[in-house]
Amino acid sequence: MEFTIKAGAPEKLKNGCVVAGVFSGAELSASAKALDKASAGAISTILARGDLDDKAGATLMLHALPGLATPRVLLVSLGKSDALSDKAYRDAVAAAARQLAASPAEDAAFCLGEAEVPGRDLAWRLAQATQILLDSTYRCDELKSKRDESRKDVRQIVFISRTKIDDNLKAALREGQAIAEGMALAKTLGNLPGNVCTPGYLATTAKKLAKDHKIKVEVLERADMEKLGMGSLLSVARGSHEPPKFIILNYKGGKAKDKPVVLVGKGITFDTGGISLKPGEGMDEMKYDMCGAASVLGTLKAIARMELPINVVGLIPTTENMPGGSAIKPGDIVTSMSGQTIEILNTDAEGRLILCDALTYAERFEPAAVIDIATLTGACIIALGNLTSGLLANDDELAAELLASGQAAGDKAWQLPLWDEYQDMLKSNFADIPNIGSKGAGTITAACFLARFTKAYKWAHLDIAGTAWKSGADKGATGRPVPLLTRFLIERASR
Ligand code: BES
Ligand code: MN
Ligand code: ZN
Repeated sequence: MEFTIKAGAPEKLKNGCVVAGVFSGAELSASAKALDKASAGAISTILARGDLDDKAGATLMLHALPGLATPRVLLVSLGKSDALSDKAYRDAVAAAARQLAASPAEDAAFCLGEAEVPGRDLAWRLAQATQILLDSTYRCDELKSKRDESRKDVRQIVFISRTKIDDNLKAALREGQAIAEGMALAKTLGNLPGNVCTPGYLATTAKKLAKDHKIKVEVLERADMEKLGMGSLLSVARGSHEPPKFIILNYKGGKAKDKPVVLVGKGITFDTGGISLKPGEGMDEMKYDMCGAASVLGTLKAIARMELPINVVGLIPTTENMPGGSAIKPGDIVTSMSGQTIEILNTDAEGRLILCDALTYAERFEPAAVIDIATLTGACIIALGNLTSGLLANDDELAAELLASGQAAGDKAWQLPLWDEYQDMLKSNFADIPNIGSKGAGTITAACFLARFTKAYKWAHLDIAGTAWKSGADKGATGRPVPLLTRFLIERASR
């Protein structure tokens, strides 16, 4: 799908479909008005009959209107003209995308410039629309023997602007495209099964990403990790026949002296729970336990596409979590790279065991900030459901930045407390720290564990257990939180 922006009169467009907005009470947007006038009132006549629902996101496809060169006009409800929310705008674009996918139109013109969203500028609307439209074309059919050829995507999208087109607006299209491409990479890695997307596969993907972009990559093998003393990470890998990897990506878009933002992604390519085995039902979904890692790769892809002027390091500790003759057992004690000893009371709390060594490794980059991204706790799904990622941080400014980025990106997070009092829930009789807390507050105690390894820098943790994939009939990875992270880095790059 290609995206352009140009000035033009809606009624003169010859595209396969022209998309225009209608506000509630059949109030025509300026573009819809122009189309209505040229078609001798055809649109207002149809609207007067009540064929278009008032609710934001409702659509109506009209064919062969008189006086217009385009064969189709797609009307999209935008709700009240003075109260279009971020969500309503995004819903309207997504609904238009669905209608276009179902129509034979090969190209479409979007006249949604009048869809003013309070607090958001035209660049935001364009970037969001581009991202949503491109993301809607994503599919994962690599492992089907026959591809579904029935769905035909719109090939060209042109945004019709009523204001002067400057570089800022063109950059917005590139941003939306870059984020959707980053999401697509993250989705595909998440959707690929555990027998394909292994730690080695993630390493190969990272190398390919680095080769195609201005990124340096290094992959540490088991022996390298042993030398570094990553005893916690390696303990998780003991039950698996797949060799673990530690992937280091370095994107240097900023000045040499600029401190990098370090992104750390949990890369458990399959989480059986280990000896603390998970129940069988729905266990297939534990192939998604590397979505944190996937979001790091996706975000790096997005910022490299945009050539963002910022330095970013991506760290991906990756292994399977399997039961086996050499697997770690409940009660085992291991020594982390930080020197702290850990009593593994539950082998299913493995994410924090691989993250803690990566977080210690992150110190060597003297980071401006470290953000880890992990499908870490089922408790986070209980607390926030599938809509919102959990956010915990040792720095409130960093947390506020991430919350705002999530809002702007339509990829929201909510902060949970990381107060010292919760640290008392992590006590081990035999080691420095247990890998699980006492009962309750599972998302917080997991973050408290990580906090013991992040004292050297500003750090935030995103628990994406609920947001990284959808269950049910539409099962699949969501590409989150690539939009949030990319937005955050865009803001950081411009400050
Ligand atoms: N990968 C899981 C978390 C998870 C569970 C994500 C369900 C998505 C859906 C993680 O490794 C895990 O198993 N966490 C345990 C921790 C517990 C043993 C303290 C959990 O949440 O049950
Ligand atoms: Mn687990
Ligand atoms: Zn896990």
